[in-house]
Amino acid sequence: MRGGLAPNLRFCHPSVPSTLFMHCHLRRSKNGSLFFTPPPHRQLRFSRFPFPFVVASSSSIMEDTIRSAEASKPPFSVLFVCLGNICRSPAAEAVFTDIVRKRGLESKFRIDSAGTIGYHEGNPADSRMRAAAKKRGIEVTSISRPVQPSDFRVFDLILAMDMQNRDDLLSAFDRWSHKEKLPKDAYKKVKLMCSYCKKHSETEVPDPYYGGPKGFEKVLDLLEDGCEVLLDTIISQNS
Ligand code: 4NP
Repeated sequence: MRGGLAPNLRFCHPSVPSTLFMHCHLRRSKNGSLFFTPPPHRQLRFSRFPFPFVVASSSSIMEDTIRSAEASKPPFSVLFVCLGNICRSPAAEAVFTDIVRKRGLESKFRIDSAGTIGYHEGNPADSRMRAAAKKRGIEVTSISRPVQPSDFRVFDLILAMDMQNRDDLLSAFDRWSHKEKLPKDAYKKVKLMCSYCKKHSETEVPDPYYGGPKGFEKVLDLLEDGCEVLLDTIISQNS
């Protein structure tokens, strides 16, 4: 845990300016106390202060402190990607948003979708996809946009609907990474949506665009399964 805690902790040592703590690491000792240590690269500047500071030893203060650190965490960001960003990924965005909302976690997430092509840019989702989702109580509201280089920087997780989408994302990353100075391992953020499905054995969310109504239902079945597991996984890996 780093920074963001100073305003709560002014009481902990009157001789120390609260801004000092913005750069410090909050640690928990074996007996449960919380204390700050200076960051390794600033030890000289900090050496005149008597580190480590114990900042909380009662469990209620400690829990409040942890809660306030968690509240200042940036939201976890998820981008869903398909080809046109008018059928599968807007539906994934809507299904995941619905599940996140039902669990009261909307402030903890940033959720978006995009397409590997820009052909439908500016268009709302396909009316067949919106109608199928609406029957399940889910509003699909996103407007199509193509994937952009900054997505690899901004998003924590990028979920491809099928293997072609995943390959296209990885090729785009290869093309952009040098010029756009993208983090070297940002391609690892790309995963297949169906890798989170528990009740279905499909490996891809099939493209419903040229098919009939059953295709749209199948998309939603897969997404409802995958998005539940996705949320559980994110929560358990980030708690
Ligand atoms: P999506 O579906 O990738 O799930 O949005 C498609 C949308 C448009 C096209 C193909 C698939 N298209 O060929 O225009």
